[in-house]
Amino acid sequence: MLPEGARADEAVPRLREIGMRKNLLVGSAVSYRELQQPAFTNLLEEQASIVVPENEMKWQIIHPEPDRYDFTRGDALVTFAQEHGQKVRGHNLCWHNQLPRWFGEMATPQNAADLLRQHIAKVAGHYAGRIHSWDVVNEAVRVEDGRPDGLRNSQWLQLLGPDYIGIAYRAAAQADPKALLTYNDYDIEQDGAKFDAKRAAVLHLLQRMREQQIPIQALGLQSHLHAAPELPDWTALHRFMEAVEKLGLDIFVTELDINDSKLTGDPGERDQMVAEWYGSYLRNVLQHRSVKAVLTWGLTDHDSWLNSPNQRHTDRPLRPLPFDADLKPKPAFYAMVKAISEAPARA
Ligand code: XIL
Repeated sequence: MLPEGARADEAVPRLREIGMRKNLLVGSAVSYRELQQPAFTNLLEEQASIVVPENEMKWQIIHPEPDRYDFTRGDALVTFAQEHGQKVRGHNLCWHNQLPRWFGEMATPQNAADLLRQHIAKVAGHYAGRIHSWDVVNEAVRVEDGRPDGLRNSQWLQLLGPDYIGIAYRAAAQADPKALLTYNDYDIEQDGAKFDAKRAAVLHLLQRMREQQIPIQALGLQSHLHAAPELPDWTALHRFMEAVEKLGLDIFVTELDINDSKLTGDPGERDQMVAEWYGSYLRNVLQHRSVKAVLTWGLTDHDSWLNSPNQRHTDRPLRPLPFDADLKPKPAFYAMVKAISEAPARA
């Protein structure tokens, strides 16, 4: 219930303002479809100081044919953000997923470096000066693929070997010297052997990039977390973040959501637990002043990728985000408010 006399929009705190007091950017991924819905865009405008297109800048959408780029959907978000004083993350320039079909048919070891350079020159060039940070290479590490360097055995690796990473970052630096160039990956945050191995391999990659003087300014912790009844103590994550800071990199929380598929209880109980995870995770990562931005992967449970048919592994809808399907704030939202309010200010 709202306090008497309160207007609905006054009762809900605004994360973008709370974050601003801490020099912290706060926001979420947005889809083109959501951008057409006024109720959604009102909420986005109130809550976010930074946004990222969920799919609209990926190769598949922005580069549908070898000689054709389509900036319509990406531009729509950048224009919205500029009109509302929000920063924009670019996502992404080089990834093994969501590549257009033509790429697989056309790319060879001989032409792949040029295809990558041209794509980045065109896309990062198109948005130059308007992007806070680019996820230049996304998810390049996959320990399970068994390589000593931990790199994923992706199409890019098969075409170009590990050099594709330097090629991508150098092209991005040239096309948009103002954007903070980011390496973005998942399964870095939690406890356990799988995560230890991922952290070690990602750190190794970042160290190699530094040695090779590849331009990079930040690490993106995707933060797709899986809630369990016990909260982690995040010790291994703290050590990892300190090592990343020693390399002189900023850290962004880029895709936060908390998967409740392993939790039991009614939706209210699960929401409480998910909120505890939000609070615990953010309280811990925000102790690090290197963390300059926090973005969730979507704002509302209704539009979460975890509820798309190819992702969901339970028979009930998941509740991973700060707002519910009716755009009402959930306990997770208030956990974000509290953690950010209590966080130390960034430089
Ligand atoms: C996801 C989108 O949310 C989905 O809509 C799409 O079908 C697949 O990609 N890591 C990333 C994001 O870096 O780009 C992914 O986004 C989620 C995992």
